[in-house]
Amino acid sequence: MRMVLLGPPGAGKGTQGKRLAEKYGIPWIATGDILREAVSKETELGAKAKAYMDRGELVPDSLVEGIVESRLEEDDCKDGFILDGFPRNLKQSRSLDDYLEARGEKLDAVLNIPVGDDVLVQRISGRLVCPKCGRNYHAATNPPDRDGFCECGGKLYSRDDDNPETVRARLEVYSSETAPLIDYYREKKILHEVDGSGSPEEVFERICGIIDSLPTEGAGG
Ligand code: AP5
Repeated sequence: MRMVLLGPPGAGKGTQGKRLAEKYGIPWIATGDILREAVSKETELGAKAKAYMDRGELVPDSLVEGIVESRLEEDDCKDGFILDGFPRNLKQSRSLDDYLEARGEKLDAVLNIPVGDDVLVQRISGRLVCPKCGRNYHAATNPPDRDGFCECGGKLYSRDDDNPETVRARLEVYSSETAPLIDYYREKKILHEVDGSGSPEEVFERICGIIDSLPTEGAGG
């Protein structure tokens, strides 16, 4: 199962990606998390990416495509993967298609999770993230059991790019650069729409319903 989670900032891609990885036993690969880790470790990649992320802009394709390709070459991706936050524009989509085709592979499904702007802003403004395991919480709607800490013990933090000005910029970038991918994948007949409203559990049920109804490889149909 090779799949992509598509949706605006705050739609719940990370929340669902982590759960799906646990349920289906394939890795969840979030480019935003990889970049944030690089920034916090002050690597060369992090130094190059930080200014773009702080402005809510996309990090250059040349940086991100290489990261994703080397991650997909790791052993745990041989039976599939869940991409979250990649691809993010048409150039990245085409480069992913070419990369997979060269390996005799293709995407099985793209799950688009639309959510209204007012709900997105409300979700992002209370978000708390675990730097250790990547789990997301929300101060009001999904608080951690232990105040300020993840269930894995990690100390929760608020993302630098979750301030109102950067969120506005990210929503604009989503509309102009990422939303066109919806039609791109619809034309390829691998797009599935998932209503992103309701609780994380409700959205998860909807996504699993779609995944479980997909034809399995070698099923002849
Ligand atoms: P990235 O980290 O990918 O951010 P994003 O796409 O803006 O998405 P978010 O992580 O904000 O939202 P999400 O959909 O994962 O929602 P979440 O599950 O956390 O990218 C950040 C930056 O990195 C970009 O701006 C760019 O600079 C760079 N970048 C990354 N990838 C790149 C690429 N491919 N190319 C170039 N640059 C790239 O949920 C949000 C909150 O809501 C949480 O608090 C959660 O608990 C809560 N929540 C989730 N679902 C529900 C629900 N159903 N009900 C109530 N609350 C919910």
